[in-house]
Amino acid sequence: MLTDAAEAARRLADGGLVAIPTETVYGLAADATDPVAVARVYDVKGRPTDHPLIVHVADIETARRCCVLDSRAEALSMLWPGPLTMILPRTELVPAAVTGGLESVAVRIPDHPLTLEMLRHLGGPVAAPSANRFGRVSPTTADHVVADIGTLLDPVRDAVLDGGPCLVGIESTIVDLTVQPAQILRPGAVSGQLLDRLLLPVSGSPTAAASGPSRASGMLASHYAPARPVQLVEREERDTIGNDHTAVIDRSDDPVEAARHLYDDLRRADSQPASGATTITVVLPADDGGIGTAVRDRLRKAAAPRDHHRTSRDG
Ligand code: TXA
Ligand code: MG
Repeated sequence: MLTDAAEAARRLADGGLVAIPTETVYGLAADATDPVAVARVYDVKGRPTDHPLIVHVADIETARRCCVLDSRAEALSMLWPGPLTMILPRTELVPAAVTGGLESVAVRIPDHPLTLEMLRHLGGPVAAPSANRFGRVSPTTADHVVADIGTLLDPVRDAVLDGGPCLVGIESTIVDLTVQPAQILRPGAVSGQLLDRLLLPVSGSPTAAASGPSRASGMLASHYAPARPVQLVEREERDTIGNDHTAVIDRSDDPVEAARHLYDDLRRADSQPASGATTITVVLPADDGGIGTAVRDRLRKAAAPRDHHRTSRDG
């Protein structure tokens, strides 16, 4: 594990992979302009190559080299660095290997000092999906990354940059700006209400729900799944939970804390369940239109029926 941002940048520049801390979850990064390194990200994750990656940049100038920002994107860019990913038309700098062949690219400026420092040393964009194996819950600590993919990384060329636990804890909000009105493809800490407030003055229309073919993996029904079956309970019903044979997670009183600890809670419940527990029961935070809604979205996917034969599920 590394804590040296300059060394992490050197490994990326040499074609290595580096797991990077962000405010949302850890990502598995490669130099976005290096298709060979990007191909290794797909290998290590076990992810189909038609599932596009998010490009992470240090500043708006680098974002402009990767994608075309319209007036809506300019307005939303005041939320950067932060947990917001924008889908925009890509430029030539971003190879098709990053976008699964799409003409659009997902871009964000992550809000983590160590990763921003690393990106400034590198001087260009990195492509990074969440640093978990395909279909499993995202990592929110460097230890989670090592547990998930540590053995798949090359100790000399690759690295895990340890920036401590992620403060938001769930993946960024994804907004598709290649359509009008803009569509929210994945809810996150940036709420639809906040996006609408920034978009209305420049575009005249608020965001719409996602429609058309599933474009974000978070839109797939089963996703973000621990190994044990997950059942969900509304706050009003929590007194009815029996404590036999199930590990109970209840942070429903505080949706911010529920998000911050969600994946660590699920991992712990998976690996050290209460004695005799075979399932995980999670109490849902209120549907508040913000982070509570995003936590509910991830939990619905963690609890969805799984089809182990499907190959299109990703992480
Ligand atoms: O918070 C986050 O977004 C984290 C951290 C590491 O930044 N990253 C993350 O990446 O969650 P990943 O790969 O697990 O999810 C990226 C999502 C996928 O659902 C992918 O389908 C969608 O972004 N995506 C990427 N490019 C896209 C595009 N051009 N059009 C539509 N969806 C896209
Ligand atoms: Mg993911």
